[in-house]
Amino acid sequence: MIELKITEAQKGSRPNISLPHRGIYEFLKEDGIRKLVSDHYDQIKNSSIRELFPPDDVIFEAAKKNSADFFVQIMGGPKHYENNRGAPMLVRRHNPFSITGDARKVWLGIYRELLPKLGMPDELLQSLWNYLDQFSIWMINSD
Ligand code: HEM
Repeated sequence: MIELKITEAQKGSRPNISLPHRGIYEFLKEDGIRKLVSDHYDQIKNSSIRELFPPDDVIFEAAKKNSADFFVQIMGGPKHYENNRGAPMLVRRHNPFSITGDARKVWLGIYRELLPKLGMPDELLQSLWNYLDQFSIWMINSD
């Protein structure tokens, strides 16, 4: 069993990012990625970072879809995100929301629970985790 470690991080740090392993898309396929993001968002609703996200269910589901589109794209699938939303510019898109290091830990903690349940080979699991752990550091914009 591999250990998924949350790297300690502060606002302003911009670690280099390696894209997730191409095998993840082959393994999860588009449907599996959408389910993963959907499960993540549904758990956010019961978490302490709930108030960062849209209160309205319809808008919440739209936010979920945008995120899933991005994850499908970044893992090597169709470019739904680019087609629907344009260039990702995720740091800029997160700026309206106050994301602290603690909020990142909650966000990541939900993925840490979900990822091992996907049955992925360790190499893929580690690769996806590293991507989330590192790239989420970029989104911290508040102390
Ligand atoms: C550090 C923890 C993170 C928090 C607390 C967070 C929170 C949020 C919030 C509040 C939104 C806006 C929802 C809305 O009102 O539409 C959002 C959107 C989004 N997030 Fe994150 N996020 C985090 C990390 C990440 C990471 C690491 C990624 C990508 C790997 C990501 C991808 C996205 C995408 C694609 C959107 C949709 C942007 C759009 O097109 O509007 N987020 N996130």
